[in-house]
Amino acid sequence: MTLALAYHRSGRGAPLVLVHGFPLDRTFWNPLLPFLRERFDCIVPDLRGFGESPAAEPGYGLEDMAADLSVLLTELGISAAFLAGHSMGGYIALAFARHFESQLLGLGLLGTQAAPDVPERRQIRYDTIAQVQRDGVKAVLGMAEKLTADPVRHAPTLHQIIQRQNPVGVMGALRAMAERSDSLPTLAALSVPVVIVHGMQDSLVPVERAREMKTALPAAHLLELPGVGHSPPCEAPEQTAQALLEGLL
Ligand code: MLT
Repeated sequence: MTLALAYHRSGRGAPLVLVHGFPLDRTFWNPLLPFLRERFDCIVPDLRGFGESPAAEPGYGLEDMAADLSVLLTELGISAAFLAGHSMGGYIALAFARHFESQLLGLGLLGTQAAPDVPERRQIRYDTIAQVQRDGVKAVLGMAEKLTADPVRHAPTLHQIIQRQNPVGVMGALRAMAERSDSLPTLAALSVPVVIVHGMQDSLVPVERAREMKTALPAAHLLELPGVGHSPPCEAPEQTAQALLEGLL
């Protein structure tokens, strides 16, 4: 079952859906939006269970989260859009590419990967679900520091975003990420433009995962950012926007 998502819309131009990562909400995109609004009609949803969107009982997959985006586009009367996803948002954008290809104009993959979880990572997610069940979102507050190479500058804002999330949505997303499938074949088969932006200091998703995506789809544009960690949209918004503008339009 799909859910109606809360969203914000601004700018003019080609439709671009910005898909936030874990455990965040649409305000994550605030630093990037001023650089995109001149050329893109930016549609910025809260994913199910995050921000102002309703939560569903855990047990859904990233495909269901992608289906929410497909329905949102249909409801807005937009036949096809670009999608740019950060981290988990990239996993969802790739699931969208697999299931709703006719609605896709192109992809931005920011601090993300197409590979599925290795078994150890999957186990950590299940352990984290148990911790969130027990302690609420404070079990994932430490993510704020891991999301950036410059925690002094960015962690306070990220911390605030994480703190207000719904534990049910956090657990649902952890399970959906743990059970996601390999999206490398999906990526390799794409004929729409693809832009990959990755921080070279990303400690959550190493830059090798971005290079692996570029190898799977040599036509993709890859920008590697020195000194940047897991969150190019807030750590290097101008360069991230420039890559999307040049590579997608
Ligand atoms: C994210 O930033 O969305 C998550 O770190 C992704 C992940 O845990 O794989």
